[in-house]
Amino acid sequence: MEIEKIIRSRRIIKKFKPDPVDQDLLVSWLQTASMAPNHKMTEPWKIVFIGSETRAKLNHKTNFGHAPVLFAVLSHKGSTQVIRDENMVAVSCFVQNFMLLAWSAGVGVFWSSLGVSALVRTALNVSDDYDVIGIFGAGYPDEVPEAKMRTDIDAKIQYLA
Ligand SMILES: Cc1cc2nc3c(=O)[nH]c(=O)nc-3n(C[C@H](O)[C@H](O)[C@H](O)COP(=O)(O)O)c2cc1C
Repeated sequence: MEIEKIIRSRRIIKKFKPDPVDQDLLVSWLQTASMAPNHKMTEPWKIVFIGSETRAKLNHKTNFGHAPVLFAVLSHKGSTQVIRDENMVAVSCFVQNFMLLAWSAGVGVFWSSLGVSALVRTALNVSDDYDVIGIFGAGYPDEVPEAKMRTDIDAKIQYLA
């Protein structure tokens, strides 16, 4: 798939088939995703694969659409608020890279922001020096939702003299 088609067709997936996703493939996408821009090469991302015991503790209402794979993505806080903000932006780039690579191979991703809750931080044993960017389910989609149309970008562009 060409890049524009991948970007335009990607959807957040909320219902997955049970078919497993090859772990080596997942890790290779994570490796490629790490080519994301990151200021001062902080490489702030950390990936925590979540096994069934830990997953049960998260008690998610749809069990992440029954995604066969579940992982958290963390962002290192760094020593200042500026670094913390920049790191979270860099990790967001990392996540988008991953989602597009997965989508290009037919694998969808669920993004849950419940990662910010205290319960999740405890269940995942996240240390104080990391933010939780999200909990991500991955797998082959059972359902792909309709695209949600975006606002015409002209309405979001400003030209300064
Ligand atoms: C920071 C962030 C947090 C998100 N958290 C959730 C979430 O908790 N639950 C959810 O269903 N979707 C979540 N999403 C996915 C958005 O709802 C989704 O991207 C949006 O509805 C547009 O759909 P699309 O990505 O399929 O085009 C999150 C996305 C981002 C970027």
